[in-house]
Amino acid sequence: MKVYISRNIPTTALDVLKEYGLEVRINSDNKHLSQQELIEECKQADLLLNVGHADLDKYFLESCKHLKGIALASVGYDHIDLASATSLGIPVSNTPGILSGATADVAFLLMLAVSRKAFYRANEVREGKWKDFEFMQDLGIELNGKTLGIYGLGRIGLELAKKAQAAYNMNIIYYNRNRNLEAEQLVNAKYVNFDDLLTQSDVISLHTNLSSETQDRFNKDVFNRMKKSAILINTARGKVVNETDLYEALKKGEIWGAGLDVSDPEPMSPNNPLLQLPSVCVLPHIGSATIETRTQMAIMAANNLIAAKNGKPMMQIVNK
Ligand code: DGY
Repeated sequence: MKVYISRNIPTTALDVLKEYGLEVRINSDNKHLSQQELIEECKQADLLLNVGHADLDKYFLESCKHLKGIALASVGYDHIDLASATSLGIPVSNTPGILSGATADVAFLLMLAVSRKAFYRANEVREGKWKDFEFMQDLGIELNGKTLGIYGLGRIGLELAKKAQAAYNMNIIYYNRNRNLEAEQLVNAKYVNFDDLLTQSDVISLHTNLSSETQDRFNKDVFNRMKKSAILINTARGKVVNETDLYEALKKGEIWGAGLDVSDPEPMSPNNPLLQLPSVCVLPHIGSATIETRTQMAIMAANNLIAAKNGKPMMQIVNK
């Protein structure tokens, strides 16, 4: 059987595929593929290891209905039309769990960087704007003992809660569709309603998937109800936050700062006015971007394809 791999992946994962007798073709130039180019490549393959967030919509899936399995090298699967994959009988897998620590690290990094305006101030140094020691300029705020509100407390949110509590003794509150009893036990997290999350949190970190319920959830009404000193962190999906409303809220001082590892669209335009604000840090979707995590993600995806090749259920299937 043949596997097409849509972007470069670590060689250890390629070796896993080859070891199990799979013939591998890879987009080794790592170039951006149009949907039609991806379809053409997939026509010559039996399995797809999809890296990145290209839209695998109904048209794509119907054009590639011969595929015996699609392994996503991501935990999120909002970019694939799962209903179509299921009705076409294509199993789809993701990579849950293994990227939780790395992604929580980026949320933590953003939280700290925003609270001290670190990226903005580092740019001042780079641009030669650092003229003197200033006692009162662009002061930050401290995280110690503050309240961290987690919107969507699953695996990644729990990792962040542990780090925030260990480092800054932060008080953890969360809002979820369901209670997370493990988090309540491990980090003494308190389950609150959405309004309490907004009004009580000093930092709100988003760890939800993207759905019709969460799209645009953080909009002007929501920012208006948050503390003026609050920081918003988004390492989940760009579309959960209305960026225009976020900019307005930051400009008007309705909230204090924002750290974004994701945006809508991606890449974020360099002309996006958010990038001019001192208390905003934006990263290029690097939540899981460590050697260790990306290697494990690629290996997990490869193992799912090996299962599909052998006619077995994928271990991390998302459309049973
Ligand atoms: C994920 O795993 O969903 C991250 O966004 C990286 O793709």
